[in-house]
Amino acid sequence: MKYAVTAATGHFGRVAVKQLTNLVGKEQVVAIVRNVAKGEEILPAGVEIRQGDYTDPAGMQEALAGIDRLLFISSQPGGAVNREIQHCNVVKAAKAAGVSLVAYTSYPNADQATAPLAHDHQATEEALKKSGLAHVFLRDNWYLENDLSFLLAGQAGQPAIYWTDGKAAWAPEALYATAAAKVLITSAPKEVYEFGGQPVSYKELGAALEEALGKKVKITKLSRPEYEAALVASGMDEQTASQFASFEEPHQHGDLDVSSNDLATVLGYPLPSLVESIKQLLNN
Ligand SMILES: NC(=O)c1ccc[n+]([C@@H]2O[C@H](COP(=O)([O-])OP(=O)(O)OC[C@H]3O[C@@H](n4cnc5c(N)ncnc54)[C@H](OP(=O)(O)O)[C@@H]3O)[C@@H](O)[C@H]2O)c1
Repeated sequence: MKYAVTAATGHFGRVAVKQLTNLVGKEQVVAIVRNVAKGEEILPAGVEIRQGDYTDPAGMQEALAGIDRLLFISSQPGGAVNREIQHCNVVKAAKAAGVSLVAYTSYPNADQATAPLAHDHQATEEALKKSGLAHVFLRDNWYLENDLSFLLAGQAGQPAIYWTDGKAAWAPEALYATAAAKVLITSAPKEVYEFGGQPVSYKELGAALEEALGKKVKITKLSRPEYEAALVASGMDEQTASQFASFEEPHQHGDLDVSSNDLATVLGYPLPSLVESIKQLLNN
């Protein structure tokens, strides 16, 4: 059996490749990367590395030759080629290469979600369904790492700011990647996994931060325009500030307010508390 991971040089991919090699041995693992030199530098020695770019469907089909099961990690939004097109390229390449199962890192509650960020994931889930490929949707909730600047601000005695009352089921990215590797080797996986911690608000994330730090933190809710203005006042340009503010839209839409035990069940152990996860992130 050959297992492949796309975007293997990213934070998610690196953990998934490492976990897979632990689970099935490096001989059965193929890392698909767009930058081979980077892959050779950072991926475990002995893992086969193949070149594959989401914008190059023919190259991706070649990279997938002989692959049985694929962990397809979603691309970064905002690239030169629209992300939906990139993802459809991968689905077509997997179909043409005869991959037997595709596990795709999707978006929480993707079929009901309404925030703009959900769109590409919904389109990719649809493309996978229509392709006839056996598929698994790994619907990953919010990475705790996304809010590192919120956590670091509090740690540094600065106001930890946010603008939405919506909730997210934050969990460390490495746990999602570890679970993805485990699902990939499961003989009969479910079609949908809703991966994440327990949903909480930014106010509750702030309370967990205070507990992790053992000190009071200025947790400050602003309006969205005030939030953007605060980022600009801290030196960020307006476009980046607006983009940063948009990262809270999924919470505001309620998309991330998903309760599920799938992550702990697949990992086979209870998730660390939010306080523990924050401590670990801030100590790294
Ligand atoms: N649920 C969440 O909270 C959340 C948060 C952030 C991101 N995400 C999603 O999760 C994915 C993985 O996260 P991450 O932390 O691993 O991101 P990351 O560290 O930024 O890595 C992104 C990976 O995507 C690769 N990539 C980008 N464009 C590509 C293309 N055209 N063809 C092939 N590979 C391409 C990059 O390759 P290079 O190494 O060559 O640049 C890199 O390996 C992201 O891409 C995003 O879709 C989810």
